[in-house]
Amino acid sequence: MLFEYCLLAVVLGSVAVSLAYTAITGISPVSSTRQSRKRMLRSIPADQGGTIYELGAGWGAVAFPLARRCPDATVVAYELYPVPWLYMKLCRMLFGPHNLKVRRRNFFRENLAKASLVVCYLYPGAMEKLSSKLVLELEPRARVISNTFAIPSWTPQLVQNLEDVMCPQVFHYEMHSVIANIQQHIGVLSSIIG
Ligand SMILES: C[S@@+](CC[C@H](N)C(=O)[O-])C[C@H]1O[C@@H](n2cnc3c(N)ncnc32)[C@H](O)[C@@H]1O
Repeated sequence: MLFEYCLLAVVLGSVAVSLAYTAITGISPVSSTRQSRKRMLRSIPADQGGTIYELGAGWGAVAFPLARRCPDATVVAYELYPVPWLYMKLCRMLFGPHNLKVRRRNFFRENLAKASLVVCYLYPGAMEKLSSKLVLELEPRARVISNTFAIPSWTPQLVQNLEDVMCPQVFHYEMHSVIANIQQHIGVLSSIIG
């Protein structure tokens, strides 16, 4: 009987922690679908270097193959929810790759200025918050790939349309073009104001 109570406590505790983290981060650690993963990874050149950030890496469904595909890059996978973070840490310890760094951090509090590429699969509210953070921090040479959710008011350089109910589109942005667009808007506004 004691064993059953302990088991029940563990199950209820896990559910409570899971619900709490979903409430904190705004999204559960659901992985990108196989098709969207494949298409995103294929669009990233294998000789991509520098620092790649994955914002909200979940169980590592993108972070691990991404680090393997780009051995010249350092992939930093941020994840706040402790269970998938621990899972990624263990997998990384056991199987590598060495160019993957798994960090239990809130990516909104991290400076992403070193990024050559930012990859994410989040939710509309996060994209809204990210749009100003990325404009302020990223270099013009950086790129952003967002699975499913567009960044509001940014114009993508490429939209991949997929036959996938869960992840129907992948959006690609180049920061030099995003910044140029914003500067153009500011120019138009200041000429209107006088
Ligand atoms: C939809 S999952 C995507 C998982 C993975 N990127 C993929 O494509 O398979 C989003 C993840 O982002 C994490 N997350 C959301 N906001 C976060 C934040 N501010 N800092 C760190 N992780 C966050 C959630 O915990 C969740 O695991």
